[in-house]
Amino acid sequence: MSAKDADFEAFSAIQRIKQEQGDSLVILAHHYQRMEIVELGDFAGDSFELSRRAAAKKDARFIVFCGVHFMAESAAILAGENQVVQIPDMNAGCPMADMADLVSVSRAWEEIGSVLDTKKLVPIVYVNSDASLKAFTGRNRGCSCTSANAQKAITWAFEKGEKVLFFPDEHLGRNSGNALGLPTDEMIVWKSNEPLGGNTAQDIERARLILWDGFCHVHTNFTPAHIEQARKKFPDAKIIVHPECPQEVVKLADASGSTSRIIRFVEEAPSGSTIIVGTEFNLVQRLNITTPEKVVMPLARSACPNMAKITLGKLLHTLQNLGTFNVVKVDPATKKDAALALDRMLALAG
Ligand code: 13P
Ligand code: SF4
Repeated sequence: MSAKDADFEAFSAIQRIKQEQGDSLVILAHHYQRMEIVELGDFAGDSFELSRRAAAKKDARFIVFCGVHFMAESAAILAGENQVVQIPDMNAGCPMADMADLVSVSRAWEEIGSVLDTKKLVPIVYVNSDASLKAFTGRNRGCSCTSANAQKAITWAFEKGEKVLFFPDEHLGRNSGNALGLPTDEMIVWKSNEPLGGNTAQDIERARLILWDGFCHVHTNFTPAHIEQARKKFPDAKIIVHPECPQEVVKLADASGSTSRIIRFVEEAPSGSTIIVGTEFNLVQRLNITTPEKVVMPLARSACPNMAKITLGKLLHTLQNLGTFNVVKVDPATKKDAALALDRMLALAG
């Protein structure tokens, strides 16, 4: 059988299982998934919308998450006792999420505590992180965020304390700080393998936003040179990028935002316009197909290999083994504390 025929068979088989299962099954698909997976999803969304869907879908016994591991784990944290969350490939990870772990974040917290009272400090954890870090954040009066609500989360944190420790994405933190008008010298980077994060005690005392040095390799691929070239070649085009891009790129773009914000931007652009998008390639390609009256182009071709690990074959296998294959589990104590951070985020709204 050709690969095309196998895909067609898998697609049809998935549709049949969806029909049989009805409301007891929900398939959530992140916007960076392959076109055919997005088509089969009951909901496509950004990380925030999918967390909200997972929290709201209490009637579904099985939640199958087509995205990367931290997203499925967030769904498992928010799921009820009787729900099972599965991911078609356990190895679909996020390298940025792996750039911070409980040991190094706890150590940073203690080291900052040697300079100032940590009662002044509020942790904000990007959802692209392990459950143990969400639990750390929950226990320490902090909140989760996604790229859709990072500014809101930081504003919320400044109402609770004087300083924010933001991890693991330096760029989302910095771009959000810039958007909120924080002066450059009040944002410092915490280099996780250096004493005091590579800062002096005075730097830490002066800082309001302490940024972990994590990054997304898909988004740090985009450079100011890409924007300059695009402006030269397509002077009438609008450029929008994801806030995981470096600040130099975000500042040169016309707009920035989460994957859902990017989709809205394209949908709201006038017919006949050209939009250049700096985010994961699958989403850009899909937008070009779904909005034929506009031209949607990638700022550069940059794909997330982990998102691409979810295939029709793996989704079918998961659905044929509902409740048993690749079940995402979080231990009860971690779940309880991590839910505090996620619930605070959900209460902030998008
Ligand atoms: P969104 O929160 O915009 O969906 O992005 C998630 C992500 O992993 C971006 O790289
Ligand atoms: Fe992680 Fe970047 Fe892939 Fe998003 S695009 S899942 S942040 S590696």
